[in-house]
Amino acid sequence: MGVSLKFERIKPKVGARVLNTKEELLSGELTGAINRLIEDCGVIVFPEVHFTDDEQKQFTNTLGNLANEVFGAEVYNISLDKKLNPRAEYLKGSLFWHVDGTMNKVPIRLSLLTSKVLPTWGGNTEFSNCYTAYEDLPEDEKARLADLKVNHSAWNTVFYYDPEPAQDKLEDLVSMGEAELPLVWRHASGKKSLVLGNSAHYVIGKNPLESKLLLNRLREWATSEPYHYAHEWKLGDAVLWDNTGTMHRAMPYDPDCGRLLHRTIVQGEPSLAA
Ligand code: OGA
Ligand code: MN
Repeated sequence: MGVSLKFERIKPKVGARVLNTKEELLSGELTGAINRLIEDCGVIVFPEVHFTDDEQKQFTNTLGNLANEVFGAEVYNISLDKKLNPRAEYLKGSLFWHVDGTMNKVPIRLSLLTSKVLPTWGGNTEFSNCYTAYEDLPEDEKARLADLKVNHSAWNTVFYYDPEPAQDKLEDLVSMGEAELPLVWRHASGKKSLVLGNSAHYVIGKNPLESKLLLNRLREWATSEPYHYAHEWKLGDAVLWDNTGTMHRAMPYDPDCGRLLHRTIVQGEPSLAA
C-alpha cells in the first residue's frame, strides 16, 4: 500500500498541517501530493518533526532539486546573530514582507525552515498566500494588473531597516543588480499569484506615487486576515512554503538570543508529474 498524505487545513485560504511520520515524509512517496497541496495553501507545517540536517536535505530532495544556498552551503543558518550568520545585517530585511531570491536567475520555488533554537521573545514567522489573495481580486482589477511589470532590487530592501545607509553598504547591494518581474506570476500549473515584497521598487511606466500606492495597497490586501498565517515555532517544527506564490516575514526578536532556523531551498518551477 502506498503512503497517503494526512493533512488538515489551518485556514480556508492559507496553510495546512501535515501529520505524516518522518519516515513517511522521507520515503519520497508524498512528493506529488505535497507539491500539489503547497500550490493551494501556500505554506505547510510539519509539527515537531525534528529533521536532522541530513534528513532535511533528504526531504528537500524528494520535493525537487535541492539547490545551493548563499555561499554555496546546502543548509543555511537563518539568524540575526552575526556569529551564526555573517550576512545577518542583510537578513534584517526579512523582518518585512518579502519573497526569497527575487534577484536570482532561476527563482526559488520552495523554501524549508526547521527550528533549532527558539527565540526568548517574538520571532514568529508570518506568511501570506498570494495565490488566494490574487484569486479574490475583482475581475476588472485582475484585467488592469495583467500585463504590469515591477522593478525589483536587493538595494531597495536596505531602506526598510537602515533608512540612511552608509554609501559603501548601499553600493554593495546595488552591485547585486535589478530584475524586472511580472506583477502577476503565471505558474506552469496555470495558477496565478501576486509578486510583491520589499524588493519590489516600482511598477514600470507608472509615476512614483501611483506606483507606491498600488504596490502598498496590494501588499496590505495580500497580507490581510484571510490570507495571513502567523507560525509560532516549537522546537523541531519544519515549515515549507511555495516561495513563488507567497510572502513571508520574521517578527522582531532579540538578535542576541540565539534564535536559529536551518533553511534549504528548491529551485525552479514544479514538476507535478510525480
Ligand atoms: C527566510 C526568512 C524568516 C524568519 O528564512 O527566508 O525570511 O522568521 N526567515 O526568520
Ligand atoms: Mn525569507
